[in-house]
Amino acid sequence: MQVKRAVVPVAGLGTRFLPATKAIPKEMLTIVDRPTIQYIVEEVVASGIKDVILVTASGKAAIENHFDYSFELETFLAQKGKLDLLRIVRHISNLINVVSVRQKEPLGLGHAVMVTEQVIGSEPFAVVLGDDLVDSQIPCVHQMVEVFDEYQESVVAVQEIPESETHRYGIVEGDEVAPGIFKVTRLIEKPPAGTTSSNLAIIGRYVLRPEIYDCLHRTLPGVGGEIQLTDALDILRKERALYAYRFDGKRYDAGDKFGFLQATVNLALEHPELGGPFKEYLKELVAKL
Ligand code: G1P
Repeated sequence: MQVKRAVVPVAGLGTRFLPATKAIPKEMLTIVDRPTIQYIVEEVVASGIKDVILVTASGKAAIENHFDYSFELETFLAQKGKLDLLRIVRHISNLINVVSVRQKEPLGLGHAVMVTEQVIGSEPFAVVLGDDLVDSQIPCVHQMVEVFDEYQESVVAVQEIPESETHRYGIVEGDEVAPGIFKVTRLIEKPPAGTTSSNLAIIGRYVLRPEIYDCLHRTLPGVGGEIQLTDALDILRKERALYAYRFDGKRYDAGDKFGFLQATVNLALEHPELGGPFKEYLKELVAKL
C-alpha cells in the first residue's frame, strides 16, 4: 500500500494570532518569505506526495488561491519581463493537486479527518498539521512513510517533552521495538501532568491506514467536547497496531506566537540569501543586549 495523498486540516479560526488573523487565514502568515502552509506543502511534495486534501472552512479561500494559477498576475509579470518572479509564482501553482473538503462545524481534529473519508477511500494517507513545522534533512513525512512501508501499520510522529507539558499534546505510551520506533500501548489526549509515565508527545504528522475512519465513526467527543484523532487512534491500536516514530529534525510550534518567532529566526538564518546578513545583524543586536 503506497501513501499517495496528504490531508492538511486548515479549518481552524486562528484565534491565538488575533488580530493578525481577523481577515487572513493563520496558514497564510509569513515565515521569512512564504506562508506557513507553503512549508507544509513543500515537505509533503519532498516526501513524494502530490495530491493534497485541504480541510477548509469559510474565509480560507486565500490558501486555495495560493496554490492555484493566477492568470492576471502571471500575465502582468510576463508582460513586464519579470521572469524570475514569474518562475517563482508558477512553481507554487505547480506544486500540488488540491482537493478541498469543507468541515462544516468545528468539531475537532478527528472530525476534520473524518470529512475526508469519501475522498481518501481505502488507501493509506498522511495527515499533516500546519501548526507544526519540522526542519529536517529528510522530510519528516518521508521518514514516516519509510516506517509505514516497513510495518504496514499506522504511524504517528513523536518527540520527547518535559512532564510539565503533557497537557498540551496527545501522549503515547509504548514499547521501543527498534531504535526510535515504539509499539503503542495507549494514547491519551492532553493528560494532566503526573497522570502518564510517558513523555512522548504526538506532533502533527501521521501516516494512517484507512481503518482509522471506522474508528473515528465510533469515537465519542473527548477533551474539549471535540472528536479527538488521538482517541480514534487508541481504538485503532487495540484493533490492529499503531507505531510511534521519534523523527529526526527540529519541530517548531508555529501555532504559538513564541514558536512562530523561533521558526522565523531559525529559518531566516538558514535562508540562502538572507541567512548571512541576518546572522551579522543578530550578532550586533546580541552585543548590545
Ligand atoms: C493536536 C492533537 C494533539 C497533538 C497536537 C500536535 O492538538 O490533538 O494530539 O499532540 O495537535 O500539535 P492541538 O494542538 O490542535 O490542540
